[in-house]
Amino acid sequence: MEMPDYKLARKRSKDKVEIRDFKIDKDLLELGLNKKFFLKTYGCQMNEHDSENLRGMLHLMNFSETLDMEDADFILLNTCSIRENAHNKAFGLLGRIKHLKESKKDIVVALCGCMAQEEGVVEEIKKKYKFVNFVFGTHNIDKLPKLLANSFKTSKLDIEVKSCEGDIVENIPVTRENKFKAYVNIIYGCDKFCTYCIVPYTRGKQRSRKREDIIHEVEELVKDGYQEVTLLGQNVNAYGKDLYDDYDLSNLLVDVAKTNIPRIRFITSHPWDFTDNLVEVIKHHDNIVNFVHLPVQSGSTRILKLMGRRYTKESYLELFKKLRSIPGISITTDIIVGFPGETVEDFKETLDLVNECKFDSAFTFIYSPRENTPAAKLVDNTTLEEKEERLYKLNELINKYSKESNDKMLDNVYTVLVEGTSTKEGNLFGYTETNKLVNFPGKIDLIGKIVPVKITSAKSFSLDGEIVE
Ligand code: 5AD
Ligand code: SF4
Repeated sequence: MEMPDYKLARKRSKDKVEIRDFKIDKDLLELGLNKKFFLKTYGCQMNEHDSENLRGMLHLMNFSETLDMEDADFILLNTCSIRENAHNKAFGLLGRIKHLKESKKDIVVALCGCMAQEEGVVEEIKKKYKFVNFVFGTHNIDKLPKLLANSFKTSKLDIEVKSCEGDIVENIPVTRENKFKAYVNIIYGCDKFCTYCIVPYTRGKQRSRKREDIIHEVEELVKDGYQEVTLLGQNVNAYGKDLYDDYDLSNLLVDVAKTNIPRIRFITSHPWDFTDNLVEVIKHHDNIVNFVHLPVQSGSTRILKLMGRRYTKESYLELFKKLRSIPGISITTDIIVGFPGETVEDFKETLDLVNECKFDSAFTFIYSPRENTPAAKLVDNTTLEEKEERLYKLNELINKYSKESNDKMLDNVYTVLVEGTSTKEGNLFGYTETNKLVNFPGKIDLIGKIVPVKITSAKSFSLDGEIVE
């Protein structure tokens, strides 16, 4: 049994990161014959991609997937810790599984993902959710086959959560959700330690994948007909810093662009590591999309300092303007309201910043205290009611600018990667380079292709259009 440990999770040692290859015992390959798994994923794209690897391993062991939890022999929850409501949802589902297990004793239940890296969560599972068979963390998802095989033999709770460092495991099998768009990890973990954020504790220290492994993965995706890759990391702009002296995200993007994959995205960017070189690389490569997600979190320099974000309102705006100079670029952001000590004046500065930047869209959140993070110890006098009011006001403004940005697209032609049929008969849906959802009439043989579409109507969250012949 290896329990999560916050003291270890906080450590950033200089030890070399171990890179190893996925391995599986031959005798586990038939473990899943005639068995079904149910997988529930919470949280961000990193978790979604981890679930693609979890699926890949389960399929390799010959399990088949079911979307009906009651029909499963194995239930796996890939969890998220970022805010309290993600916690509550996972515990809510565990409650339902508890009932299910009363009538179906043989089901194996496991929990992984960020919640597994939290001391408090694992303690709670040991006390209140004893029916869980095993727990494993974000650093060792490749242990799934072994842990699962053991749990079919014994009903004793098995906990295997590494807190320190984190390795890089290459060549884990993958079952991708989408046939045309693929996630590719480029960096794991985060060393920024923003004071509100639990990610540096649950995902470990910053570890870049080797450039040749990333490029090889993208080359293989091109051969398989993929049209788009999203390079993933909690802070992609730190790519390479832990591995190379003179090779960073801008160099990697140039090399990935040479694979000729039609579209390259990258998320998420921290403004601190965003270099001028990177702005130039986006500007001068057609297959690096004109889209940047640049979380600002707050428009008040005082609050940004308390958040440990390492930039001011002014320096954010300076970078923002450089990016806006790229023709056709779309910029989105994340904003937290109600950070401890945020005054009406601080909040007004956030609204001012939104008025100045006119983001194409934004994810907005009420601050959620996370156990063991520095911000959780700060005095917070703002009532929930006040925070909800601020969120409401902010969302109204964000939606106004989203609609404005969509309105500007009217009558213009954009390339759309067609992903499937939409609910309206005869219609297809897809996304522009700037990640806007477009619905338009078309034949299904266009699915998987990039086609020019003229925008005929704009709403706040989607667009309608028609194909240009
Ligand atoms: N409370 C609210 N929002 C948070 N985020 C991260 N941690 C918290 C928290 N404790 C938001 C940030 C981040 C996004 C992924 O989630 O805005 O950019
Ligand atoms: Fe969390 Fe900050 Fe790292 Fe983003 S950059 S994952 S907000 S600590």
